[in-house]
Amino acid sequence: MATPHIEASKEEIAPVVIMPGDPLRAKVIAETYLTDYKLVNQVRGMYAYTGYYKGKRVTVMGSGMGMPSIGIYSYELYKFYDVEKIIRVGSCGAYTKDLNLYDLILVNGCYSESNYAYAEGGCEEHMMYASDSMNLVIKQTAEMLNYPITIANVHSSDCFYHEKFDYNQLYHQYGCLAVEMESFALFYNANILKKRAACILTVSDNLVTQVETTSEERQNSFLRMIELALESIL
Ligand code: HPA
Repeated sequence: MATPHIEASKEEIAPVVIMPGDPLRAKVIAETYLTDYKLVNQVRGMYAYTGYYKGKRVTVMGSGMGMPSIGIYSYELYKFYDVEKIIRVGSCGAYTKDLNLYDLILVNGCYSESNYAYAEGGCEEHMMYASDSMNLVIKQTAEMLNYPITIANVHSSDCFYHEKFDYNQLYHQYGCLAVEMESFALFYNANILKKRAACILTVSDNLVTQVETTSEERQNSFLRMIELALESIL
């Protein structure tokens, strides 16, 4: 069975999926951490690999950027591949100087002005939440690994670039400590399909202090985040 966007057979996708935005990161994760892995999707270059992490079967697949993209892939994985859990692993821009580059964030809820939920099912909610049970496990795993993690609300935005933008309201009204572009649609899909989702982010830039990571530094903090996600599924 294939879908319009995923050519894998149903058996080739594991019930647990780790989703970076960039499909090339899915390749790096498979090559670095998985054993006995196989490339199971190449449609539109959105690579998916299924293999084993310490004996646990897992699929790692890119989501692409933005809510329409992660919306398509997460919907198809949940609905047609019987995926139960998706952990998004991504980067975010901080809305507060209290967050440093490379800090790890575990998303509690996300606010979005996106109409993804409205377009899908007339849902007028603008806050979506991660799975409490998954977050609890991720939090405990972070403690075990001794990785400091901030549990926070974030802003899921449709725009990376803004000519004029005031994030203070999002910070004060909704407690959004950072911005990314995918978790609202992921959490929404998990909700309507009665599945579970979580999202771990690393801070790649700070919109207050204007500092940005270099790509090499980004790679190191990325690996810590992946280890946290992978250890959490064991
Ligand atoms: N905006 C949106 N998404 C992001 C950002 C940002 O500044 N940084 C990392 N992901």
